[in-house]
Amino acid sequence: MSAARPPILLASPRGFCAGVERAVEIAELALEVYGPPVYVRHEIVHNRRVVEDLRAKGAVFVEELDEIPAGDALVIYSAHGVAPAVRDAARARGLRTLDATCPLVTKVHVEALRCARDGYEILLVGHRGHVEVEGTLGHARDAMHLVESREQAEQVQVRNPERLAVLTQTTLSVDDTREILAVLARRFPALRLPKKDDICYATQNRQNAVKALAQRADRVLVVGAPSSSNSNRLVEVARACGARAELVESATDVPREWVAGARALGVTAGASTPQVVVDEVIAELVRLGAGEVEELVTELEDVHFTLPLELRDARRQVAGS
Ligand code: F3S
Repeated sequence: MSAARPPILLASPRGFCAGVERAVEIAELALEVYGPPVYVRHEIVHNRRVVEDLRAKGAVFVEELDEIPAGDALVIYSAHGVAPAVRDAARARGLRTLDATCPLVTKVHVEALRCARDGYEILLVGHRGHVEVEGTLGHARDAMHLVESREQAEQVQVRNPERLAVLTQTTLSVDDTREILAVLARRFPALRLPKKDDICYATQNRQNAVKALAQRADRVLVVGAPSSSNSNRLVEVARACGARAELVESATDVPREWVAGARALGVTAGASTPQVVVDEVIAELVRLGAGEVEELVTELEDVHFTLPLELRDARRQVAGS
């Protein structure tokens, strides 16, 4: 008698968030309306497939603006946002710019500027070196202290605890961040907290979905890039719930032994992962012996962000000509 085929449970929501949808649409439309080359500072979103597709259409990815020829070349800022110094440098080089920063990251930037203007020191909870964190730090560098862990929350020293605010990266673990914020609130009772959590709706929803998944699936695959913060957090959350969990970037990374002996296989995807890659991972699991696919819906998302005005105008002109 052959062994039963373990079902695949597919988390919903998963994959692209509204900020990523918008960033990819901005890049695609810019290529269509203005024609290549269109320069993109940093990977537009952390996903190899998305980057390769855009590169094939004429996008040129750079890490720094000095890789772009001076003049009126067009550069797009990625969904992760940039520091004001980058905008200044673009202006100084005469570059045209389009801003694909996620509006929820911009919200944190605005809050950083407001806190610094009001004379607050700012504790920024986030991961050193992540491109979003670099952009946020750049909005009030002299006023900011980066806090990466509970240990650092216990140790961080500030000049004036009476005028202190906290902000967070948008793609952190909700549970870890709650613990870090609790330490900071205990040490600094006057701490000014954001009105609403800076961790974005998409990060929160995907973490809730993977928790539900890990209750029914003993093995969970998170489809996402190693550089994707929110994808890595999904792996951690699934493991914290007791599931065996791995990050896979594509179908070729699916562990061959993953299916045999599993009770149920969970699949989810980070906010920068296109559905086509999830479909390929599912096809590979089925090829390796997995059974039916069942979607596990924990939340319905209906969030959309508008495109930059200049791009909407340019598109209208092209359509009308
Ligand atoms: Fe924005 Fe959150 Fe997506 S900050 S880019 S909606 S993961």
